[in-house]
Amino acid sequence: MKNNVKYIVKKVIKPIKGRIKVPGDKSISHRAVMFGSLSNGITNIKGFLEGYDSLATLKAFKEMGVSIFGPKNKKLCIKGVGIYGLKNPKNKLKLGNSGTSMRLLAGLLSGQKFKTQITGDKSLSSRPMNRVAIPLRLMGAKIKTYKNGRPPIKIIGNRLQGIKYIMPIASAQVKSCLLIAGIYAKGETKIIEKGCTRDHTERMLKNFGYKIKTKKSTISLIGGYNLQATNIKIPSDISSAAFFLVAASIIPNSELLLEKVGINPTRIGVINILRKMGADIKLLNETNWCNEPVADIRVKYTSLKGIDIPKDQVPLAIDELPILLVAAANAEGITRLRGASELRVKESDRIISMAKGFTCIGVKNKVYEDGIDIIGTKNYKGGYINSYGDHRVAMSFTIAALKASDEIIIDDCINVSTSFPNFKELSNNIGIKIKEVKI
Ligand code: S3P
Repeated sequence: MKNNVKYIVKKVIKPIKGRIKVPGDKSISHRAVMFGSLSNGITNIKGFLEGYDSLATLKAFKEMGVSIFGPKNKKLCIKGVGIYGLKNPKNKLKLGNSGTSMRLLAGLLSGQKFKTQITGDKSLSSRPMNRVAIPLRLMGAKIKTYKNGRPPIKIIGNRLQGIKYIMPIASAQVKSCLLIAGIYAKGETKIIEKGCTRDHTERMLKNFGYKIKTKKSTISLIGGYNLQATNIKIPSDISSAAFFLVAASIIPNSELLLEKVGINPTRIGVINILRKMGADIKLLNETNWCNEPVADIRVKYTSLKGIDIPKDQVPLAIDELPILLVAAANAEGITRLRGASELRVKESDRIISMAKGFTCIGVKNKVYEDGIDIIGTKNYKGGYINSYGDHRVAMSFTIAALKASDEIIIDDCINVSTSFPNFKELSNNIGIKIKEVKI
């Protein structure tokens, strides 16, 4: 089996222009499958992300006895089994590279009447799970991690009790895990957030008719109610759109229109930060799909300047920070990122993966425990980059290559398919040529 993919990318000589629609939002796709499965009735989903991560969630629910038809043309039809209708899966649930699947499922499985084991690939197996295991135990969960709080996780379903939990880190995955566990808990589950994080769980629970209260940074729900099936239309993922927002911002005379992108206020840190750097970004045709704001995004080239990235924007741009660092490398002056230690526990240590790649192509940088400084330059070279199997690092250096003096070879790009399966094809459509070598 060919399991290593390299990208070879050369500098672009022409501006990039056109209209594109990037695939469906990953976070919303996971949640649509989860809540559709737990609801009473039939849920039809449009715009589902057919990437390995959301497919891992889908497979897990099929293995727990849910009938799911599709995906076909990004459509799914789910016959919900109700909150108590899941069946004991025959085997361990394998969740690949997907941290969201693992952390959200940990909450869900803690409240079932059966035992399960959840595992992941090499990257996921090195990611911290105590952030969910510790509060879940406070709710009464019987949950056991492997060494140092790493996966695999063994869960014996148990009766749960609502808790009040002050989150020590800003994490939508932890918040969502506890809210989902809260559906199975006796009484109220109350989560107090440290920083604002994506609120797709809260919005989608409301779509499925579940009562959930949000007051400033406190989110609460009472366990034991049913979810009512509903139809879900998923917007394009702003995290995938971000690669093209930056590409068009750094390549002279470029102009792109990104269609029907989710612009939930808890996800638009990338737009806020790019605008602060001077980017020309406009939101057009704003609308709302299933409680999620959506717009077409028009981006035009302008010269960017280095900035101190506002700390409050970090959780709102958490997945877009690697590509924002590429914007910083092409900006005039220094960009400073701090308050981003969460980057160290993503699919790779993204501070190190990005720093190593930049050093290789001659972009000066300085690493800090919780961030990095990038010194913008007009001229950086080509080189051989290791993505460390991290999809967002691989795509970020693909975009960086469009401005490098020589070609950039990016190694270990197979995981691009976890979040953006047609990245190469869409890029090619707007004049970004990616040569793919399968080994
Ligand atoms: C996600 C939350 C974020 C993000 C991840 C998806 C989600 O993680 O990095 O890609 O769908 O809830 P954290 O909440 O752990 O920061």
